[in-house]
Amino acid sequence: MVKKIIIDTDPGIDDATAISLALRSPELEVIGLTSVFGNAKGEVTAQNALRLVELEGHDSVPVARGSDVPLIIPLEALGTMVHGEDGMGNTNPPPPKGKLLDAHAAEFIIQMIRSNPGKVTLVPIGPLTNIALALKLDPGIVGLVDEVVLMGGTLSCPGNISPVAEANIYHDPHAADLVLRAGWPLVMVGLDVTQEVFMTRAYLDEIYQADNPATNLMRKILPIYQKFHDGFFGLGGDIHTHDPSAIVYLLAPHLFHTQSVAVFVETEGRCMGQTVADWHHQWGDRPEVKVCMNVQANEVLALIKERLVK
Ligand code: BDR
Ligand code: CA
Repeated sequence: MVKKIIIDTDPGIDDATAISLALRSPELEVIGLTSVFGNAKGEVTAQNALRLVELEGHDSVPVARGSDVPLIIPLEALGTMVHGEDGMGNTNPPPPKGKLLDAHAAEFIIQMIRSNPGKVTLVPIGPLTNIALALKLDPGIVGLVDEVVLMGGTLSCPGNISPVAEANIYHDPHAADLVLRAGWPLVMVGLDVTQEVFMTRAYLDEIYQADNPATNLMRKILPIYQKFHDGFFGLGGDIHTHDPSAIVYLLAPHLFHTQSVAVFVETEGRCMGQTVADWHHQWGDRPEVKVCMNVQANEVLALIKERLVK
């Protein structure tokens, strides 16, 4: 059965690839994008979300702009060093033709879930502010979603924005904690697996040969992202595969090994944004979520390539 999904996103270089991958996958029906601050300012990520549906010829996919700031902490850091001021590798893309919906992302999410009970999968690949706001406005959505599959967090790897925190969780730790404790079926696709999936330079060169809108955009916007990965991780032009891995989970969950555990988020101090697994239920009876701990990386990469080059 075709899965109806809402991608909540902060595009964002790897968000762009994830959105193309989803729009090119017949198993998925993207019923909307919702945008959030994160890799760039909220006004920028909203325009990018519009651009990305248009790039793929899916102009009819609605885009709702969401939060520009976290729930509680002040807006501190954006991911512009990694993704560019324009979230698109400082390539200064032309304005989109379409318009944003006249509803906040959180309202749109609630409307879609309520009008398709049991059928909508939420796919947050940015900070979790919009999803937390939707939960606060309408806690009843917890029992009505099909699943939440998010890119964020890490249990076994160091962080990528601080020694202990993954960027999406760090940008709004209070929102992330709300989402992780809500009690809905949730899968965390975090650095434990996304940093095991490497798009090498050779892999990217093969993809670029397809010469289509998705792969041409990747070729254009990826250099700043490769430069960051080289500077921070010494990857010499290879990159981790974050947001696209969450889309692959929807298409082929058997490629991921998951473990069920309650996850807490540290909301202050030096460890802000750290995701902590309570393996032995020492911190109370928080509902468990599924965390991806291992991945068949080559198969994930093959699936991404198959979809992007067609
Ligand atoms: C996550 O942070 C952002 O930089 C990426 O788009 C991805 O969603 C990886 O930590
Ligand atoms: Ca993202």
